[in-house]
Amino acid sequence: MVRVAPSILSADFSCLLEEVKRMERSGADWLHLDIMDGHFVPNITMGPLVVGALKGRVDLFFDVHLMVMNPQLFLTDFYRAGAGMLTVHAEACTHLHRVVQEIKKLGCKAGVALNPATPLNCLDYILEELDLVLIMSVNPGFGGQEFIPGVLPKINALAEEKAKRGLSLEIEVDGGINENTAVQVLNAGADILVAGSALFGAPDPSKLINAFKMFPVRRKRV
Ligand code: DX5
Ligand code: ZN
Repeated sequence: MVRVAPSILSADFSCLLEEVKRMERSGADWLHLDIMDGHFVPNITMGPLVVGALKGRVDLFFDVHLMVMNPQLFLTDFYRAGAGMLTVHAEACTHLHRVVQEIKKLGCKAGVALNPATPLNCLDYILEELDLVLIMSVNPGFGGQEFIPGVLPKINALAEEKAKRGLSLEIEVDGGINENTAVQVLNAGADILVAGSALFGAPDPSKLINAFKMFPVRRKRV
């Protein structure tokens, strides 16, 4: 079953809780929280305080995407704030294996994100440890960017590797997802769609969320 994770980066922050509730009412499964530090990406967003303020106010699973250098410094804070999944960037971790173990030791699900130019094989020796791989389909930092079709073969290769190794990890795709690009990433093997501008800008997000979930997908899911 395809799951949809609205990214609050495109929400109206002056009424954030109401925006998040609107997504929950519209049928969202997860809430995607984009954390940016102004170093790993050229933008700054929010810290654990904002994540914690939303926690308990909605039933959505909190999918925390850490676009920060040295994410190991912040794992406990985001976990305590309510993260159900902590996803770090492979490019931001010198000791990726250790960081993943630290996330799991907290009792949290562990994900690793890859920028569009980062090859999949950097995860060859850690794939078994992961609950999720996030394939970035834009360069991280901002919402509302155009989807990069060059990442489709990477999604496809990951789905094949997942099937070959019999893994249960989930494949999440983030960036430029709309009605046209969603079908492409789903056919390539995505399980979870992150969408910011398309969902928060939609007059009726429930229609788009339904459309995402109802696309006839050609790839057989494993
Ligand atoms: C990009 C973020 C994404 C992004 C999604 O750095 O990780 O979650 O904001 O927004 P859209 O769907 O507008 O590309
Ligand atoms: Zn994100």
